[in-house]
Amino acid sequence: MNNKTINGFSKLSKKEKINWLSQTFLKDKPEAEYLLSLYWHQDSARQQRHDEFIENALSNFYLPFAVAPNFKIDDRIFAIPMVIEESSVVAAASNAAKFWLDRGGFKSEIISTVKSGQIHLNYSGAPSNLMRFFTQTKQALIRSVDMLSAGMKKRGGGLIDLDLIDESEALNGYCYIHARFETADAMGANYINSCLETIAATFGAFAETYEGFGPGQQPEVVMSILSNYVPECLVRVWVQCPVSELAQEGLSGKEFADKFIRAVAIAQTNPLRAVTHNKGIMNGVDAVVLATGNDFRAVEAAVHAYACKDGQYRSLSKAKIQNDTFEFSIELPLALGTVGGLTKLHPMVGVALAILEEPTAVELMKIVATAGLAQNFAAVRSLVTTGIQKGHMKMHLLNFLSQNNADEPTKMAAVEHFKNNAISARSVAEFVASYNSNDH
Ligand code: MEV
Repeated sequence: MNNKTINGFSKLSKKEKINWLSQTFLKDKPEAEYLLSLYWHQDSARQQRHDEFIENALSNFYLPFAVAPNFKIDDRIFAIPMVIEESSVVAAASNAAKFWLDRGGFKSEIISTVKSGQIHLNYSGAPSNLMRFFTQTKQALIRSVDMLSAGMKKRGGGLIDLDLIDESEALNGYCYIHARFETADAMGANYINSCLETIAATFGAFAETYEGFGPGQQPEVVMSILSNYVPECLVRVWVQCPVSELAQEGLSGKEFADKFIRAVAIAQTNPLRAVTHNKGIMNGVDAVVLATGNDFRAVEAAVHAYACKDGQYRSLSKAKIQNDTFEFSIELPLALGTVGGLTKLHPMVGVALAILEEPTAVELMKIVATAGLAQNFAAVRSLVTTGIQKGHMKMHLLNFLSQNNADEPTKMAAVEHFKNNAISARSVAEFVASYNSNDH
């Protein structure tokens, strides 16, 4: 066996795991071993809570938790919690919030809240046979999740319906049962998956005794799993104002609006730009999704699939002028929860939800989409006016200073100096070296 592999790692204590890592991969890096223990929570009960989220936990991985205030969404004011490592994102969100606060704020609507899951089947017999069987057993399949759904039903959710979809033309012998759900304030992944597995077992049991299938022609369940693509769990957010109120950076309102709309049209047309444009949206979306303990991988997967729903990857946002009114909008598929999952387990998620005044899942959908649209507005506004680097570099200065081990007096002097000088990795390094060599 390679001396870097190990059996039974998961059974070791945390200290033993770290020791093994130190001896195996971190031999000349004592700092790494020290940091793994340094980033434990001082309160062991709280640390244990974190350790229990995942397997083989060794330490914690910190990201900054910030807030972007002054968001007006449908006449309510929010301070939006954001967890993100990238400088200038929170500042950009805050700027956009303030800009639109003075122009009526963000408006939102929930288009629908349906999620789905599929039971994927192999079936080689006549499609009409399977359809007959499905139609006969459908009500029993639906009833099979009654017990599982009791709590969810009380909260307004549950299984909505089942359909059988024949995909045998696309893939030989393939069909699936499409199950649609409402999951109220839960993201619903566990509920949906449990329902699907129960329906699949019931389906399999009925199929075994159904005489209509010829020998060896019973349908076979390949797998049962929710879909993270949620084009029916959709929120729309928009901002609007008279074009004349957009004047800025030496541009008239009309000049700014035209340039902004052109930038969005480019992101609608060219995937090279669309991906970066949408990345800017996800700067806002992911930061709130993370802060509220939601599944950012699921959200990312769904959003990017939605961005190519017509066969080409496009901008998720749209901009237009109608009757001298500028409108900038976004439509996002978002499967989010404010109960279940990490929401009650991660103390900082509790804080984030408290800052948002304990939103329902649909309220959180609106908040998250707003953060995405705000971020997108801020990024495109910079791009078509000053360029992105001016603001970005200003926000990045402290990171450059930290990379050069600047102490507090050097940092203060640098902030003063770079008010009037161009910021780059090199100019900051040179400033720190020269400031230190002048014996300040
Ligand atoms: C950087 O994190 C995000 C931007 O590139 C987004 C955009 O280009 O629209 C600024």
